[in-house]
Amino acid sequence: MKKFIASVMFALSATLMATTALASGGGVHLEHADVDIHNKESLQRGVKYYVNYCMGCHSLSYSRYNRIAQDLELTEEQVVKNLIFTRNADGEQDKPGALMKNAISQKHSAEWFGAPPPDLTLVGRSRGPDWIYSYLKAFYVDPTRPMGVNNTVFPNVGMPHVLWELQGLQEKHCTKEGEGAHAVEHCELKTVKQGSMSAAEYDQVARDLTNFLAYVGEPAALHRSTYGILVLLFLAVFAVLAYFLKKEYWKDVH
Ligand code: HEC
Repeated sequence: MKKFIASVMFALSATLMATTALASGGGVHLEHADVDIHNKESLQRGVKYYVNYCMGCHSLSYSRYNRIAQDLELTEEQVVKNLIFTRNADGEQDKPGALMKNAISQKHSAEWFGAPPPDLTLVGRSRGPDWIYSYLKAFYVDPTRPMGVNNTVFPNVGMPHVLWELQGLQEKHCTKEGEGAHAVEHCELKTVKQGSMSAAEYDQVARDLTNFLAYVGEPAALHRSTYGILVLLFLAVFAVLAYFLKKEYWKDVH
């Protein structure tokens, strides 16, 4: 029986490790995103980049503009002016209470890009912040691909490098070490065309976008940690009360 339990535990942990490896990008080295969903300024920049550069293709169908406005402490005017570029079925600008959908056709975009751009509401949870951050930095020029770019984190991706004007263009250079079957290939990305931003500035853009996607995947996380502390405080006070209550009840028994 012990052996059986041990082998079940082993199988479970092996599966868990395999899924974690898969979720974290399957062997590609991921950079640490170092995001902080409590950093409101970063989230405010992130949502602005998102609606300007990503929303045209990627909806956030499980999120509403006014929820984001509230969480990120934006005024309704700021939201209407700076965030809402989408229109409803009657062609009017979406209201702040609307879901963050876009008008791109799944069928046509699948033809254009080889794959439809997925909804990104939950990508912060499915891929994780490190993956998204690394992915946004990992586009490189590849003339064999339909969009002229490829990505080391998501090989043969259908997405064009929409932030290339900010980041510039990179090329992949690989060197081989060793011979035959033992040869190991090391690849790195080198900038071949400077963008409008420095490397550090672009890292910040990628971090702000990642931070925003991490937040939008689980908005409740903003408040959850505060509740956690309150619950622990309550339990601490309750434990003292329970202890004295127990003493009172058992007083006559002993
Ligand atoms: C021109 C359309 C287009 C724009 C604009 C665009 N994307 Fe994409 N994106 C795609 C397509 C298409 C895919 C799916 C690629 C595939 O499966 O090959 C994709 C995939 C992704 C994925 C991977 C999703 C997954 O889990 O598989 C992420 C993350 C992503 N995009 C983030 C962004 C961000 C952030 C922006 C804005 C900076 C952005 N995209 C702008 C078209 C676009």
